[in-house]
Amino acid sequence: MTEVADVSELLLSHIRDVPDHPKPGVMFKDITPLLADPAAFAALTDTLAALSTRHGATKIVGLEARGFILGAPVAIRAGLGFIPVRKAGKLPGATLRQSYDLEYGSAEIEVHAEDLAAGDRVMVIDDVLATGGTAAASVDLIRRSGAQVAGVAVLMELGFLDGRQKLERALEGAPLEALITV
Ligand code: PRP
Ligand code: MG
Repeated sequence: MTEVADVSELLLSHIRDVPDHPKPGVMFKDITPLLADPAAFAALTDTLAALSTRHGATKIVGLEARGFILGAPVAIRAGLGFIPVRKAGKLPGATLRQSYDLEYGSAEIEVHAEDLAAGDRVMVIDDVLATGGTAAASVDLIRRSGAQVAGVAVLMELGFLDGRQKLERALEGAPLEALITV
């Protein structure tokens, strides 16, 4: 099995720093070079799938939008179903909805209520942990469905934003895995 420490350097070398995006003073971490490189994307997928299996996941949740790109191949690789958590208003069926705070204002995410139930163990996949608001809201949403949270796994954690603190409160002991911390 590929170990996390082995792939971190490979993954980091395929992430591009874009200064002043989306606004002045922000250094944007662009994952598109990683997605465009089949060896790096496969290593990322394999690593996240192995972590999901190790933590006993029975389903993979991906967070719209970039969490879909990472989460869907992880689900296939791990042999598990993929459940989309979408921004509010997109899913056609009966949903559970969760709001969370942004820097200015708030946002809402949703999941199809029928996709998660007691007995499921859910691994949440996303690209970046920043303030932790999105991932923490997804954890609350999954718990409200009756399912258990196997953990949250992200490609990259922005350590200086302290999102880990907020997310670990929501996780209540479930693991938070970050392949890279910047
Ligand atoms: C970005 C990123 C994470 C989230 C992290 O998503 O992909 O999902 O922000 O931020 P947080 O930890 O402060 O909640 P965003 O909704 O901006 O865009 P996307 O639809 O391209 O994924
Ligand atoms: Mg996102």
